[in-house]
Amino acid sequence: MINEKLPKIWYGGDYNPEQWDKEVMTEDLRMFKLAGIDVATVNVFSWARLQLSEDTYDFTWLDEIIDKLYENGTYVCLATSTGAHPAWMARKYPDVLRVDFQGRKRKFGGRHNSCPNSPTYRKYAALLADKLAERYKDHPAVLIWHVSNEYGGYCYCDQCENSFRKWLQERYTTLEKLNKAWNTSFWGHTFYKWEEIVSPSALSEEWDVDNTNFQGISLDYRRFMSDSMLECYQLEYNALKKHTPDLPVTTNLMGLYKELDYFKWAKYLDVISWDNYPSLDTPVSLTAMTHDLMRGLKQGQPFMLMEQTPSQQNWQPYNSLKRPGVMKLWSYQAVARGADTVMFFQLRRSVGACEKYHGAVIEHVGHEHTRVFRECAELGAELHKLSDKLLDSRVLAKVAIVFDWENRWAVELSSGPTVALKYVDEVHKYYDALFQQNIQADMIGVDADLSSYDIVIAPVLYMIKEGYAKRVEDFVHAGGTFLATFFSGIVNENDIVTLGGYPGELRKVLGIWAEEIDALFPDQSNQIVMKESWGELEGEYRCEILCDLIHSEGAEIKAVYGSDFYSGMPALTVNTYGSGQAWYVATSPEPSFLQKLLRDLCQNKGIHAPIAAVPGVEISVRSKNTENYLFLLNHNEVEATVELGDFKAANLITEQNIENTVTLQAKGVTILHIN
Ligand code: GLA
Ligand code: ZN
Repeated sequence: MINEKLPKIWYGGDYNPEQWDKEVMTEDLRMFKLAGIDVATVNVFSWARLQLSEDTYDFTWLDEIIDKLYENGTYVCLATSTGAHPAWMARKYPDVLRVDFQGRKRKFGGRHNSCPNSPTYRKYAALLADKLAERYKDHPAVLIWHVSNEYGGYCYCDQCENSFRKWLQERYTTLEKLNKAWNTSFWGHTFYKWEEIVSPSALSEEWDVDNTNFQGISLDYRRFMSDSMLECYQLEYNALKKHTPDLPVTTNLMGLYKELDYFKWAKYLDVISWDNYPSLDTPVSLTAMTHDLMRGLKQGQPFMLMEQTPSQQNWQPYNSLKRPGVMKLWSYQAVARGADTVMFFQLRRSVGACEKYHGAVIEHVGHEHTRVFRECAELGAELHKLSDKLLDSRVLAKVAIVFDWENRWAVELSSGPTVALKYVDEVHKYYDALFQQNIQADMIGVDADLSSYDIVIAPVLYMIKEGYAKRVEDFVHAGGTFLATFFSGIVNENDIVTLGGYPGELRKVLGIWAEEIDALFPDQSNQIVMKESWGELEGEYRCEILCDLIHSEGAEIKAVYGSDFYSGMPALTVNTYGSGQAWYVATSPEPSFLQKLLRDLCQNKGIHAPIAAVPGVEISVRSKNTENYLFLLNHNEVEATVELGDFKAANLITEQNIENTVTLQAKGVTILHIN
């Protein structure tokens, strides 16, 4: 449990009473009660209010807010406010200001833009965390610490550059090793002094996001920036833990956010929390995958939905309203996939600045007679009824999909073979193929133990880190099914090609050699032609983006290309290795191919969907001891009926017994307790 003080799904969100006159809070508290809100995230952006000048701090206003909330029965998720530095600090200590990718020194403004290597920022951020923890360590309202807010972005200032050199010295020890790792003899970029190394930006090696002359330095800068921000987080973490060793600490992540290696961060978060902002046209399965990824960061431990909007956003190009029922549907989607909290940005809509048109539980009209408030209150009442039933339950999966941030950076920094290759899209294709047939998957990092899975899918695992190929071999040898795709096993962790034929270190387990890689134009495609029908696969399927031209080195050829000069060469192979199988999908296939392929692989392993798929109805199961909770989420605009088969079930909220079928309203949710 995240904190036993509140043994239910936490319900609440970001709250900024300091932006309002005091009387407003009295109204807010009344409405929180009506909506069943029991947690308020406070103090997210109040550094300037807490530290008025270098030596003057004022916590009295925050004392009052926290006390009032607690008296009202509302707990607190207490943020440290270090996501935006005060104006006086920027003026007095310009080292807190970042230098951007183009080399421009920023002025005061915006947020999330402190230089992560600024001595001033680090000192005062940690000091603020320390003071907050000292002051509120015994306050009964506080459930959890929320460090800073959505860490992100990069800095290219001189102090970052210096710290980068130190970071590199630790990583490589000698310049000789560094020159080798980055292959600097290319274009005569050899370094003879550490001081010669500069950060890779628009002024040096990178001419655009994701375009670099040297992948080695660009990869290392991403690692270094992610580490630098993680160090800032850790400084605050340690300051908080000094006073409150038992209070959990988190920072709100951003799902598929590219710039930070969240698997590395996760080790230092007591609980994962993240902010979910899908747009009207975001595929449901992409949101599901992101939840599963956030759950995977800490090996399946329940996570927090820290932010979502009750209705609309302000920062998307077209900020559509969440249709009736959708806020609840998407909230339960998070819970279905492992969230133990449902929280919003924001509880009251602000009166000015850029987020005044961002949705909130309490809208500008200021009372509770709104559609959004009614929907929030309805969900609040349900979460109250659910009490602690779902808490700490787990999603159990026998299929895993590998996701690696460093691999993603490398794939997208690669100059060639195609700009069309997007790592997340390729991963999502495989996830979606499972999702469409109700087969649960875990999203795992490259450090994860593979032994509890029957099937491990590693889409476009271009970068093979030291020891990984061996772990895959052991997994397959012991009976596991492994699936790799085109453009895999090409480089090591410095983006240096593994010589001797693609897919490098994976060649042995896959039993193939990829001789060439063809890139297809957007209007081109090829075909995967099954040699004979296998399971549900028969005939021809469209494929695109990249086609590896492979030769079997022992693998059985299941399908070949249908056209072009490599027509007849293998497109799908399977290698028997020890007691397991290693599959290679040499190109990017259409969805129906992947659905059938994965269905067959699952069937061969005895993995079945809990319930037959109904289009647009998402299914997920959470389990605790012998209890199983089946979530049915109807994303359709129309009613849907789901056949339950032999399940004997009760509606978890109404407690009514249910047999045979469940009918879900448009956008409706049912949670079943399966006996
Ligand atoms: C992010 C931030 C919040 C707020 C919301 C608006 O998630 O963490 O402070 O700006 O976006 O969607
Ligand atoms: Zn900097």
